[in-house]
Amino acid sequence: MQSILKELGQVTAVIGAQWGDEGKGKITDILGQYFSIMARACSGANAGHTIVVNGQKYVFRLLPAGSLHQNVSIVLGAGMVIHLPTLLQEIAQLEQHGFPIIHRLKISAAAHVVLDAHQAMDAAIEEQRGSSSIGTTKRGIGPAYMDKAARRGLRIGDLDHPDCRTKLAATAAFMQKAFGVTMDIDTELRHIMDALRVIGSCVISDVSEELLCAHAKKQSIIIEGAQAALLDIDHGTYPYVTSSATTSAGALQGLGLPPMILNSCIGVAKAYCTRVGAGEFPSEDHGEAGERLRKRGGEFGSVTGRPRRCGWFSIPDVRRTARMNGCTMINLTKLDVLDTEHTIPVVSSVAKDGTANYTEFPGWNASTSGMKTWDSLPPNARHYIESIEREIGVPIRLIGTGPGRDDMIVRAA
Ligand code: IMP
Repeated sequence: MQSILKELGQVTAVIGAQWGDEGKGKITDILGQYFSIMARACSGANAGHTIVVNGQKYVFRLLPAGSLHQNVSIVLGAGMVIHLPTLLQEIAQLEQHGFPIIHRLKISAAAHVVLDAHQAMDAAIEEQRGSSSIGTTKRGIGPAYMDKAARRGLRIGDLDHPDCRTKLAATAAFMQKAFGVTMDIDTELRHIMDALRVIGSCVISDVSEELLCAHAKKQSIIIEGAQAALLDIDHGTYPYVTSSATTSAGALQGLGLPPMILNSCIGVAKAYCTRVGAGEFPSEDHGEAGERLRKRGGEFGSVTGRPRRCGWFSIPDVRRTARMNGCTMINLTKLDVLDTEHTIPVVSSVAKDGTANYTEFPGWNASTSGMKTWDSLPPNARHYIESIEREIGVPIRLIGTGPGRDDMIVRAA
């Protein structure tokens, strides 16, 4: 890992290179022990990073997955939308398992609040969309960003303000009129009071200043992206995207950091591909192979439990997202899920009508589960990885071979 750390430098970002659920949580958890600060920049509890440590499963929604490392400071950026009860629950669960959070947590006052009413609105809007619904996580993300963009959102820094109730009442009136959604103002206020008691001391006025000062003191920062580049509001498969900027540039914006600060960027991509929710997915496999990937990969949403759509790795997609994010290395995850495939299709190009053209690779029909060295991989697995790497033009330096922290191959440059 030392050679990788040298390449990563003082500030790195971990960004999803497909449609999410690539396994960003695992690499940020592994790297967490070497970094001083772990920051989340955008989005909210639509994210779900699952980490398995000593057989115990932890699901992170709002806190970065690296939060299990006790020495790491945790920062939630201005670009985030935060559902307060979910955050309190997550903190309480981690603290119960012996991971104290509050004393090392900093939350931007400029982050926005996701109300219960936003979640109800998310569900109502999805219902209105009928057969063209996006398949959102119904966590209220889109509606919270709608309020933010309309400049009537409630921010973390507003929570202890005397006119908080007035602000909520105005939003409630709008929601009722426009969407027929009733806000329970007293319940929302109770959530706010509960949150202020627990996280009131964690609120900071300027996340940018905070991180830049730490940077000047030579502290290292890892930025954990949420969702993934193909779900980006500007550059993803619109309208089947999330409501925030999910790229490395979006992450820097969410934290108020200048682009030149980033020393490296890890693009995370599965050795195959999955997607939850609606939208294009040219390499989706509707047959037995797709079912096999779902079963072997445990491809069920960690937030919603929905079965994920499964298919094959797409070179054009990952080449594009790696370039867009400035990825300096790729972490290819869940290689072991492909262990039983006889042949492995990979998308080489996509026709104008959306049909995928494939190159087929021979499978390796052997277990790679838990492997830790490049040389121990079957020749066909190495061939698969090297071929993908050549086509996307970014080195695949980290290869996931199982769910555990140690199930990772670190490949020399
Ligand atoms: P929203 O972010 O809940 O509004 O959902 C918009 C789209 O992004 C839907 O297709 C979701 O399934 C997808 N999405 C949101 N968060 C994640 C994630 O963490 N992993 C995978 N897909 C996600």
